[in-house]
Amino acid sequence: MEAKSIAIDGPSGAGKSTLAKTAARELGLLHVDTGALYRAIGLYASRRGVASKDETRVTELLADINITLRFDGAGAQRVLLNGEDVSDAIRTPEVSIYAADAAAMPAVRAFLLETQRSLARDNDVVMDGRDIGTVVLPNAGLKIFLTVLPEVRADRRLLELQEKGVATTYDDVRRDMEYRDMKDSNRELAPLRAAADAVHIDTSELNVEQAFDVLKSLVRERFHGDRP
Ligand code: DC
Repeated sequence: MEAKSIAIDGPSGAGKSTLAKTAARELGLLHVDTGALYRAIGLYASRRGVASKDETRVTELLADINITLRFDGAGAQRVLLNGEDVSDAIRTPEVSIYAADAAAMPAVRAFLLETQRSLARDNDVVMDGRDIGTVVLPNAGLKIFLTVLPEVRADRRLLELQEKGVATTYDDVRRDMEYRDMKDSNRELAPLRAAADAVHIDTSELNVEQAFDVLKSLVRERFHGDRP
């Protein structure tokens, strides 16, 4: 039987990873946060002193990069970059910029595609990112596209970073998000876009439980044949 997969796409701060984490825990799926893969490449490029937009050099570096994902007992994802656990080191604003620039490079996207697809072949997954429903898992059993009002997004992202102990300000967060949205939505390859068959959910006025309730009823309908 084919593995079950749920794709969650949307801009940063729309609540993708929170919703995906809850879904993974409650439904017994593996949560794959694909942004972490782009971040690991960004981190490597920044450590090597390569300019974030230097496509030739970043592409060359891919030959030296081995990224693997590990999942702890609770299903939480850890990212290993050449064997080193970089799960925390990839969460800085500088790495965010590097990741957004790297994500616009065709060689980087091609490099990460098979890693993502093989995880979904071997496991029941809820995978979040920007192009999961459109490119990575076009046959996902359920595709969700999250949207949210800009001011709510920036507030959420700030809180998320503060909880992780990252020192930053509202203005920095907003600037960083706007830069990445612009890059993510306007790049030629796999831009941030909803799949034609994605269900759109605006999370501006939903808390995690409410968003999960919506997802749960979609899962029942898609995977268990319940009527909406
Ligand atoms: O979700 P995030 O902020 O951790 O993502 C980091 C960057 O990677 C962001 O600029 C978008 C990009 N990304 C992407 O292009 N495709 C994905 N499937 C996931 C992330």
